[in-house]
Amino acid sequence: MAGSATPTAPAAVPALELRGIRKSFGSVAALEDVHFAAYRGEVHAIVGDNGAGKSTTIKIVTGIHKSDGGEIFVDGEGMDAVHGANEALDKGIAVVYQDLALVECLDIATNMALGNLPKRFGLVLDRRRMDREAAKVLADLNVRVGDVKTPVGLLSGGQRQVVAIARAVRMDKPIMLLDEPTAALGVQETAHVGRMIDELRAAGKAVICISHDLDFVFTHADRITVLRLGNSVGTRVVADTTRDEIVGMITGAIPREATRDAATHALRNAPEEVTP
Ligand SMILES: Nc1ncnc2c1ncn2[C@@H]1O[C@H](COP(=O)(O)OP(=O)(O)O)[C@@H](O)[C@H]1O
Ligand SMILES: [Mg+2]
Repeated sequence: MAGSATPTAPAAVPALELRGIRKSFGSVAALEDVHFAAYRGEVHAIVGDNGAGKSTTIKIVTGIHKSDGGEIFVDGEGMDAVHGANEALDKGIAVVYQDLALVECLDIATNMALGNLPKRFGLVLDRRRMDREAAKVLADLNVRVGDVKTPVGLLSGGQRQVVAIARAVRMDKPIMLLDEPTAALGVQETAHVGRMIDELRAAGKAVICISHDLDFVFTHADRITVLRLGNSVGTRVVADTTRDEIVGMITGAIPREATRDAATHALRNAPEEVTP
């Protein structure tokens, strides 16, 4: 079950690793040194106060912003700058943004298929197939949002979030980035998103989940990386840390580690020692 599980046998190579990522917007240094490594079969939470740099980090991975420095590795391979969501998808990364929502005037099925609309003879939109596929993905995820032809503008915040996640799940990519997936959700909707995340882990995905809901994080994440003022403060295995420690890292009561965090190092290096 989530929370208790340390990723016991992580693959030697992280699915996604960031090293020394920097980014300024004019005179604002949004990111100074962001680093973490996320493995397949792991839910890796990124936490931090407002303005810590969580969303900017995600947007650099997906190419919405260009970093000023640092390196990104996917399955151990250095990635050149990614340009937009389509290229991120090609690299195996699906994303649910915090502030780039669904298209309100379009219905659920169309939103879920955007960027990858099913066509007949390569020309005509295959509406029936699109509806069928959307309904199947939602059913598989145990999501009940009614007719897939319902405009997204008519859905509650929670339903929209679930549809946005379902859309990313439909991409079936090994790396999933979720930015505040439970912001503004009710208790039941939050629990539902939590179950979706648990299933993604069980399916072997590397799930990188930004959240400032520590209840949620401690229930569903395996490890936590804390960002503060654009810096990685450290990474902790959920089973080996406490809420107090994480809060201290968020607020700065516990200072940033001088070296790369122990938890990341242990996971990164252990398998290499076994297999030279
Ligand atoms: N497009 C932008 N232009 C200028 N400043 C930005 C932009 N995006 C983010 N910032 C700034 O970068 C810092 C980090 O923001 P963000 O990544 O959104 O933080 P978080 O998601 O952790 O709340 C903040 O100081 C924010 O004001
Ligand atoms: Mg944010």
